[in-house]
Amino acid sequence: MHAWLCEDPTGVDALHWKELPTPEPRAGEVLLEIHAASLNFPDLLIVQNKYQMKPALPFVPGSEYAGIVGAVGEGVTHLKVGQAVACLSGTGGFATHTIAPAAMCMPLPLGFPMVDAAAFIMTYATSHHALLDRGQLKAGETVLILGAAGGVGTAAIQIAKAAGAKVIAAASSAEKCELCTRTGADATINYSIENLRDALKALTQGRGSDVIYDPVGGDLAEPAFRSIAWRGRYLVVGFAAGPIPALPFNLALLKGASVVGVFWGDFAKKEPGANAKMMQELAGWYMQGKIKPVIDRTLPMGEAKAAYAHMGSRKVMGKVVLVNR
Ligand SMILES: NC(=O)c1ccc[n+]([C@@H]2O[C@H](COP(=O)([O-])OP(=O)(O)OC[C@H]3O[C@@H](n4cnc5c(N)ncnc54)[C@H](OP(=O)(O)O)[C@@H]3O)[C@@H](O)[C@H]2O)c1
Repeated sequence: MHAWLCEDPTGVDALHWKELPTPEPRAGEVLLEIHAASLNFPDLLIVQNKYQMKPALPFVPGSEYAGIVGAVGEGVTHLKVGQAVACLSGTGGFATHTIAPAAMCMPLPLGFPMVDAAAFIMTYATSHHALLDRGQLKAGETVLILGAAGGVGTAAIQIAKAAGAKVIAAASSAEKCELCTRTGADATINYSIENLRDALKALTQGRGSDVIYDPVGGDLAEPAFRSIAWRGRYLVVGFAAGPIPALPFNLALLKGASVVGVFWGDFAKKEPGANAKMMQELAGWYMQGKIKPVIDRTLPMGEAKAAYAHMGSRKVMGKVVLVNR
């Protein structure tokens, strides 16, 4: 097998494509032949030692991937050789093969393409958990999505539309705003040239947004929170801009509003039953055509460094997927 190996977490330049012995699955594990793996923002942070999870060295990056079961370890009964699965295990995906925990593999329904499957779990699970569970978004409500052309952002647009909400997508360029419209947004705000608060006021007749989905943080958070509706829910999803924002508490009091944390990874661990139900619903929505990952581009696995550069330069629209065949 071959894999991108991180022996020194100082950034993408220190990754090397290496030949490694193909491992055997142990009890509770499966060997997967990887067909496709997608990039998520944490993949960028993990190779720089900036992510909350710090794997033992050396490790193979690539949090999320899809492929075919090549061998099963002892005690694995729900998966068999030849089965197509998607998996999000945190590492191991940027390779030709990996060992995955069987419990974390999602069997794929027939007709679920590998590229879509590799770009599915992290973004849709995060956005479903955020909007519908943590945010209690209801049909007819308005949601503002920041960084809406990114991975979790595009998934959030589709899930909010599937839930019957009005979607205002905000992003940093006209091209990104156009993608958001094509993805289903009802209105867009280009925050590079428009004042977020004024634009939101105009689009909501002064009411503000019932739910705000924020994977960006930085300087956008406070103006966005100031524009939240009465009883609004502000979803803290991530800090792609870098700085972690701080808010004056009086703003929450004045709007009767809530700041709601979203941590899908821990939700999946602490509430596995609820997570499995949610994943089933998402797979059903995919098969019904209600949701479909927005693929920015696919690149050969050997071009992982180009994929990382694309994400690092803030240019990704939807998801970048690396493929082995
Ligand atoms: N809480 C959870 O459970 C959870 C789960 C998954 C991901 N996340 C977090 O969600 C965030 C987004 O992840 P993603 O995979 O969707 O990433 P992504 O596809 O790269 O999208 C991030 C968006 O953030 C905006 N952005 C603003 N400043 C940026 C900068 N300096 N560099 C890069 N992007 C910048 C960009 O939109 P504009 O150019 O339009 O501003 C970009 O489209 C990350 O912080 C990630 O860790 C959280």
